[in-house]
Amino acid sequence: MMTECGTLIIGASQAGLQIAVSLREAGDTAPITLVGEEAHAPYQRPPLSKAYLLGGTDLEKLWLRTPEFLAQRDISLVTGERIDSLELHGVGPSGTAHTIGGRRLTFDRLALTVGARPRRLEAPGADLDGVTYLRTADDAALLRELQSDAESVVVVGGGFIGLEAAAVARAQGKRVTVVEAADRLIGRAVAPVVSEFYRAAHARRGVDVRTDARVTWLAGRNGHVQAVELSDGTWIPADLVIVGIGVVPRTKLARQLGLECDGGIVVDRCARTSNHHVVAAGDCTVQPHPLTGTGRVRIESVQNAVSQAKAAAASLAGRREPSDAVPWFWSDQYELKLQIAGLSTGHDHHVVRGDLDGESFSVLYYREERLVAVDAVNAPGDYMAVRKALTQGATIAAAAAADSSVPLRELILPQAVGA
Ligand code: APR
Repeated sequence: MMTECGTLIIGASQAGLQIAVSLREAGDTAPITLVGEEAHAPYQRPPLSKAYLLGGTDLEKLWLRTPEFLAQRDISLVTGERIDSLELHGVGPSGTAHTIGGRRLTFDRLALTVGARPRRLEAPGADLDGVTYLRTADDAALLRELQSDAESVVVVGGGFIGLEAAAVARAQGKRVTVVEAADRLIGRAVAPVVSEFYRAAHARRGVDVRTDARVTWLAGRNGHVQAVELSDGTWIPADLVIVGIGVVPRTKLARQLGLECDGGIVVDRCARTSNHHVVAAGDCTVQPHPLTGTGRVRIESVQNAVSQAKAAAASLAGRREPSDAVPWFWSDQYELKLQIAGLSTGHDHHVVRGDLDGESFSVLYYREERLVAVDAVNAPGDYMAVRKALTQGATIAAAAAADSSVPLRELILPQAVGA
């Protein structure tokens, strides 16, 4: 069976949907086919580890767009179809894709928005029932169901996913242990002072946080997990294990096309891959560093998916509209609202402002005296001020920033030092 797709967008999540919508907003009238392997219409992922897991919302409420919206814009959504291979006709942009079910899809233009998959836990017993991951709506639905019966939850991985899941489990009165391999929590994203704040905040709320710890063995009964053994030999009872140890970008299809991949599909600021006829956006990509201009970063966030997708849609239409928005990100744990703007990677100095014990503070990050990012916990004013400064290419002097009696927005200086 062969289907003509027009513009084929592989991956029906935040980035893929945004490319389709942006094409239509720009007046593009060619057929658009958005193909996703999940059975659901595109939905918001961030609430899966927060409100959805807590039981406060249904999947329909998380839909990014209604079926009517897509129909009105003549965006054809194909769910439950996995594309396994594809080739370009010559150098592209046209080509043919093949689904696992044997369908052939021909396309005139191609976008890869294939995302990332959870890294699997490698330990004996990791395939027992009750060992779960949290990436998709189906993962979250299963986890929600298992969690309602669980008493003892072990969370493997102290990144955002793990800590958000731990907060939900604790709010539901479970006994919760977080097992983190590194010497601190959320080490990839925040400074040690913020890691330590989250360790203490979870401990205060009754979570047993183990750093420098690894799961070496998962023991079960009747095929269901019952306990985990850590590298120091201790056993922790567990009738539910939630694994959040990072994600691996999907690059298989890009490699089939010979596109450059380096820890993700390499794209430029216009979301073009190494073959400029093919675009890619979202968690599957690595891009030039938006704040330093040197090296590449993979930015896993809604904001990045949307921003890159807009650039990708422009590129497909032959325009150049680089994605250069300031990255932002958030994480909700208990009543702690963390908001991050910018990228702190490679910072050489930071300033803490506010009240760590009172759970309302921010950390401003600097590189070569230039403001590059903020982590703000229950401090939305600080977050907004830094985001504004970064957007304007302005700065806030480190020496003045620590004085929390002065609102940060009053400290914004028009010109970034060294910019
Ligand atoms: N055992 C314990 N901890 C591990 C192991 C392991 N075998 N392997 C990795 N870790 C730890 C890492 O040290 C890190 O602290 O797991 C944590 C994973 O954190 P992230 O890389 O931030 O990934 P994750 O929390 O899974 O989030 C995945 O979801 O919310 C989004 O922004 C988030 O896009 C990211 C994605």
